[in-house]
Amino acid sequence: MRKTIIAGNWKMNTTADEASKLATEIKARLTGFNHAELLICPPYINLAQVSKVVNKSVIKIGGQNLYYEQSGAFTGEISGQMLKSVGCDYVIVGHSERRALFGETDELINRKLKAALDSELIPILCIGEQLEDREAGLTEKVLEKQLDGSLKEFPTDWMEKIVVAYEPVWAIGTGKTATPEQAEEVHRFIRDKLSQEFGGTVAEGLTILYGGSVKPDNSDSLFAEENIDGFLIGGASLKAESFERIAHSASKES
Ligand code: 13P
Repeated sequence: MRKTIIAGNWKMNTTADEASKLATEIKARLTGFNHAELLICPPYINLAQVSKVVNKSVIKIGGQNLYYEQSGAFTGEISGQMLKSVGCDYVIVGHSERRALFGETDELINRKLKAALDSELIPILCIGEQLEDREAGLTEKVLEKQLDGSLKEFPTDWMEKIVVAYEPVWAIGTGKTATPEQAEEVHRFIRDKLSQEFGGTVAEGLTILYGGSVKPDNSDSLFAEENIDGFLIGGASLKAESFERIAHSASKES
């Protein structure tokens, strides 16, 4: 059974007070919600306090990134075991902003995925094409390369422990969402490709999230697609009301 996940990536937003307030409001609005796994990913510095706020609720927390070593002289970095120690269950790996602004390569992402699994965190591997790639008809090629590089030397049982998020770069923070058909086509492609490599059972069980300008007014139609198993939400996850409304897409019959 695929798990449905509604995840909020807060990116570099929220001060300490704002993070506690937002987490408190999300928790209050979604008490007892059981139609999907609910996840919020605040900035590192707010994780410990947000963890206390959502403790014993249905809301899980995750990091937005990690380093692949567990400890040592790596100034400014955070490890998987540190994330785990403050209550994280998940970690986002290879977000397009990390790739584009901080030079993360598929090779580095591959190491980070392995480190996340070593720390018993569920990594959410992000992949996605740029607008130029799409316009040049290269979407599948780009995604294939990202998957091949990021999942290099991955045994099948590790594949059962990860989540993939398809986030077309041209749809992130632009208000320009992929249509449900466009997103579904890519999700199908990802599942088919992984099925060839890791087998049908693993691929069918894999949760594939969509991210890129998900809002309350487009989440129902996206979620209705067969291969869209939830969302990785940026901007709209910073308002408790819109996060709640998007979460409710998962509670509707499709
Ligand atoms: P937006 O929802 O703001 O487009 O961001 C998507 C995203 O990058 C989530 O990781």
